[in-house]
Amino acid sequence: MNTTIKKALLLFAAAASATAIFAADTPKTNLSKLYVNDFLIGVALPHQVTSQPRSDRAKLAASQFNSITPEDCLKWDVIQPQEGRFFYGFADDLVDFAQKRDIRIYGHSLIWPTETPNWVFQKTGGGQASREEVLDRMKTYIETVMLHFKGKIKTWEVVSEAFNDDGTLRDSPWRRTVGDDYIVKAFEFARAANPSVKLVYNDDDGYNPAKHLSILTLVRELKAKNLIDAVGIQGHWKVDYPDTNKIGGCIREYASLGLKVMITEMDIDILPTPPGYRPATEVALPASSPESPSSATTINFLSEYQRKYDPYSKGFSESRGRSMLATRYSALFKLFLTMSNTIDSVTFWGLDDGSSWLNDHPAPGRTNYPLLFDRQLKAKPCYDALVNLRKK
Ligand code: GLA
Repeated sequence: MNTTIKKALLLFAAAASATAIFAADTPKTNLSKLYVNDFLIGVALPHQVTSQPRSDRAKLAASQFNSITPEDCLKWDVIQPQEGRFFYGFADDLVDFAQKRDIRIYGHSLIWPTETPNWVFQKTGGGQASREEVLDRMKTYIETVMLHFKGKIKTWEVVSEAFNDDGTLRDSPWRRTVGDDYIVKAFEFARAANPSVKLVYNDDDGYNPAKHLSILTLVRELKAKNLIDAVGIQGHWKVDYPDTNKIGGCIREYASLGLKVMITEMDIDILPTPPGYRPATEVALPASSPESPSSATTINFLSEYQRKYDPYSKGFSESRGRSMLATRYSALFKLFLTMSNTIDSVTFWGLDDGSSWLNDHPAPGRTNYPLLFDRQLKAKPCYDALVNLRKK
């Protein structure tokens, strides 16, 4: 099962359970309306939410956000799993949900180096496809998908996550078959497919100086060729990292190139990252293994692991954690408000803590609290902090 489908199933399970058990206590305020003169406030949603418009999650999302990012249903492995076969069902439902409610759709993502199906890089009879064949498939895909959503999706993320943290280009089948210019090519095809659409390059950890420099060099080149309109900064951040000044510095540099900025994937991870991370599910070795620890050792290891790296599995202390999150979100939004001429949108990666990918990343099976709404879909103190910030 590929990662996208696995993630979708997990989200579906979370969505179904929350809908069945809890009735949402929808806040009276509409967060996006409070910020309407500043920037759009978005949320990433799986199509399972928007295909059930009467569910608590769908109602909550529609009452708070004016931009939606499809979490997975606009990715290549969902849209065109095989050559010549395009599947728009999930994405069409999501787009329809957004359009009926006058919500902007952020097109995520045309070329994402790691989740493109293998057939794209293979010759029909076997073996690796040539640069020309792969470029031809890229062009067909970009044109066909952008045309399908013409007039509906007016902002497209063309390429996402092309760089490693050290600033080098990520190894990917795109790079291996086409060469380093696959990024520029994708932007050329997208611009030609529909010149009136806004085009975005999106990446994470851009505050790392080496990575930031590479992103800056790329977007400068794209801007000089009039192929880009905005840079997406993924906000998968921690409570104390990165420094808001660093984030502000990156935003200012993109602005100085005449580009807009979109904070595309924001969530604040409050859990410590296990060093040399190894998934908890692999900790207990098979009983027959000579290296198997005794069951007592395994239990000790697991409880130690949980104490250190999954400290809030039984709940999250209001006084410590929540004020920590409210403080962090306020500081970030204060910064964004000083740059609202540059910032087009701020999008949360998920609606509520129960459906956040951070419960399973980087270590699986933990309990995280990164978003504005809790597991019962109630607004958290960090939500109130953002409301208060704009009301002042
Ligand atoms: C990356 C991708 C997203 C999503 C998140 C985590 O940031 O851009 O599409 O997969 O990871 O779920």
